[in-house]
Amino acid sequence: MGTQATKSVVGHYVDGEWVDGDGTEVFESENPATGESLATFRRGTEGDVDAALEAAADAAEEWRALSYVDRAEYLWNVYHELRERTDELGEIVTKECGKEISEGNADVVEAAHMVEWAAGNARHPHGDVVPSEIAGKDSYMRRKPRGVVGCITPWNFPVAIPFWHMAIALVEGNTVVWKPAEQTPWCGQVVAEMIEDAGVPDGVFNMVQGYGDAGAAIVDDPRVDTVLFTGSAEVGHEIAGKAGPEPGKLAACEMGGKNGIVITEHADVDVAVHAAVMSSFKTTGQRCVSSERLIVHTDVYEEFTDRFVALAEDVAVGDPLAEETFMGPAIEADHREKIRRHNELAIEEGGEVLVDRYDLEEEEIPEGHADGHWVGPFVYGIEHDSGLRCLREECFGPHVAVIEYEGDIERAVEIHNDTPYGLAGAIVSEDYRQLNYFRDHAELGLAYANLPCIGAEIQLPFGGVKKSGNGYPSAREAIEAVTERTAWTLNNETDIEMAQGLSADITTRDE
Ligand code: UN1
Repeated sequence: MGTQATKSVVGHYVDGEWVDGDGTEVFESENPATGESLATFRRGTEGDVDAALEAAADAAEEWRALSYVDRAEYLWNVYHELRERTDELGEIVTKECGKEISEGNADVVEAAHMVEWAAGNARHPHGDVVPSEIAGKDSYMRRKPRGVVGCITPWNFPVAIPFWHMAIALVEGNTVVWKPAEQTPWCGQVVAEMIEDAGVPDGVFNMVQGYGDAGAAIVDDPRVDTVLFTGSAEVGHEIAGKAGPEPGKLAACEMGGKNGIVITEHADVDVAVHAAVMSSFKTTGQRCVSSERLIVHTDVYEEFTDRFVALAEDVAVGDPLAEETFMGPAIEADHREKIRRHNELAIEEGGEVLVDRYDLEEEEIPEGHADGHWVGPFVYGIEHDSGLRCLREECFGPHVAVIEYEGDIERAVEIHNDTPYGLAGAIVSEDYRQLNYFRDHAELGLAYANLPCIGAEIQLPFGGVKKSGNGYPSAREAIEAVTERTAWTLNNETDIEMAQGLSADITTRDE
């Protein structure tokens, strides 16, 4: 499709073919900065998912029979295309999901890094040699692919996250059925074209465009061995709940956060302000790792808050394709509305409004962009209280609470941990004891010191605790979710000797 939007209706990729599928409904991809339609896509049905799963199940045996290195060769082709087309694809990401252009490009670069990691890992050891009590036995842990992997991915990283899931699933020998987010089908289309260009054999990779019903058809089907999901906690918990009781089915779900930054009395305030602005407003607050709580010690509260508020009043919201833009629009009209409800909830619960740029000034909206889903920073001061919904529920927007605390680092971490989520967080302090206390006691999967809590590199485990994830971080640790382990023990002797002192003698009645 290239960078120019097209009006032809685009379908699904099943068993190596572009197909219309059996549905009659179509849907539009919308540019969130202009409200314009970018392209029209077929809406996948249960029948389309069925065809994709059949192709994936049929292709599984041949694909798993290839060596790791041979499977990785296909992924290297994808890697080179991602590198050669980074700017072009970055622009598509920006047009379709509204992230400013450096973020659009970074999304594609992150995808390339993940593919590079997964394909490179094909030449690394894939199991362990494990000692045995018995000198004549060799024991190994070996891995096998689980089979068919269903991937359901979000709109906010429409190129990177699909490759978090699929690069590893494919190199490990699984076949894939993928449903991209309905907000970013154009990115889905381009990713599928790349995998096709790479020569991946028919049926090994399949993509069905569509909505939650297509996703549910993937989750519910018994042919799916693993579901990899990244998205909202609401949907993720439903998927985990459905897959849990199914014997042999595994769901690895990565969800949101109510991420916090602790700014102690020993903070460098320059670092604190920089880290907080990046964490709360980059990507218009629409990262699962974005920060919605700033927990600030009373000694630095005034200085920090004055400077943070001044920047929140000033950050450049605008055309995401323009390099001087810091924040693009919200993804869609419904999401803008959801952000409004969160802002109102904070006020109802006693928040003191410090910045409210929800409705931008008319002159801030770039020409020709009047129908974009514009939204600016919303900052409120509030006293911590466990019962407040505004401090517990994720908004997924540029909406942030500043919470003043008194006392020691233990108190700050107590406030930090007082949410149902546990994905990402940061501490800003020059005191190493405070840093280490946060590292050891903050309940989260991604912890940062003197940094924003966004921007993880792919070679780190990416995932959360509590409501944020169910224990299979994406990236490196996704291998656990798409493989099974075999403990393989080989006897090099002709006698059978058992461990634990267990007798191997067979005695008979006559003895
Ligand atoms: C997400 O927040 O939805 O750590 C994914 C980061 C990115 C991935 C974010 N590497 O900010």
